[in-house]
Amino acid sequence: MTDGDPTPDDKRTTAARFDAAAPDYLESDAHRTGADLETLAAWCADADRALDMATGAGHTAGALADVGVRTVVATDAAPTMVATAVETYGVEGCVADAERLPFAAETFDAVSCRIAAHHFPAPEQFVAETARVLVPGGVFAFEDNVAPDDARLAAFLDRVERRRDPTHVGLDTPDAWRRRFEAAGFAVETVASVTRRLDFAAWCDRTDVSGERRRKLRRRFEHAPPGAVQRFEVAFGPDGVESFVVPKRLFRLRLQTDGTSGPAVDERQT
Ligand SMILES: C[S@@+](CC[C@H](N)C(=O)[O-])C[C@H]1O[C@@H](n2cnc3c(N)ncnc32)[C@H](O)[C@@H]1O
Repeated sequence: MTDGDPTPDDKRTTAARFDAAAPDYLESDAHRTGADLETLAAWCADADRALDMATGAGHTAGALADVGVRTVVATDAAPTMVATAVETYGVEGCVADAERLPFAAETFDAVSCRIAAHHFPAPEQFVAETARVLVPGGVFAFEDNVAPDDARLAAFLDRVERRRDPTHVGLDTPDAWRRRFEAAGFAVETVASVTRRLDFAAWCDRTDVSGERRRKLRRRFEHAPPGAVQRFEVAFGPDGVESFVVPKRLFRLRLQTDGTSGPAVDERQT
């Protein structure tokens, strides 16, 4: 963060904002669709009991139930999100902070968390909690937006996200996530790159960005640093930015039983 960038909301305010946004997340194309959903669900398909963390409107929890996971527990810090997930997908629900889970050790044989960790202020704690509630050998199917390695491009993406969404805490590089997972005892089995084209207007609507704030955000895209338009495939129309692409990574992780780093990694582009 630099001077002039807004400070992220505290956890209670973040949960309240998401409570109000639950109907939008239920309908959001960027959340309810995508090959990434199928990939994450397929990675968890052998589980009997799975936890979907920061479930939002429950799209990932629903995908896990669809591939045959017998018990899916959907958790989120926002009670309305949990209620939406339970009502929409018929899964179990529990209001919970991803950094402080109300479950006993070794409760689940799979955990998923999709496009949410950039809201967590203590990601090490989130990864440690995931390891604690998983059985040894259990699968962690993780996905989030990631920062490019180029520091200027990373700062640009982080800043536009922060300006649009006060619940945005920060983006990490894939390497930073990998180090965090390995330090917590996970072996990285698969890493998949995915991109998602976001419609600028829908992206602003989801966090109620209108008027002058929306115009300022448009100007940030028009004055983006060199390389940003290419890297984020920014599409411009008569009114300025229309859409752009956010890089994401999916990690299939396995909780090690013996402290080793596990087998070689399968790196994919999807
Ligand atoms: C973008 S939505 C998640 C999308 C969802 N996983 C999906 O696949 O559609 C982010 C969610 O993270 C939740 N969240 C933010 N901070 C959290 C925290 N500390 N613990 C649990 N959930 C949190 C929000 O309430 C929100 O529902």
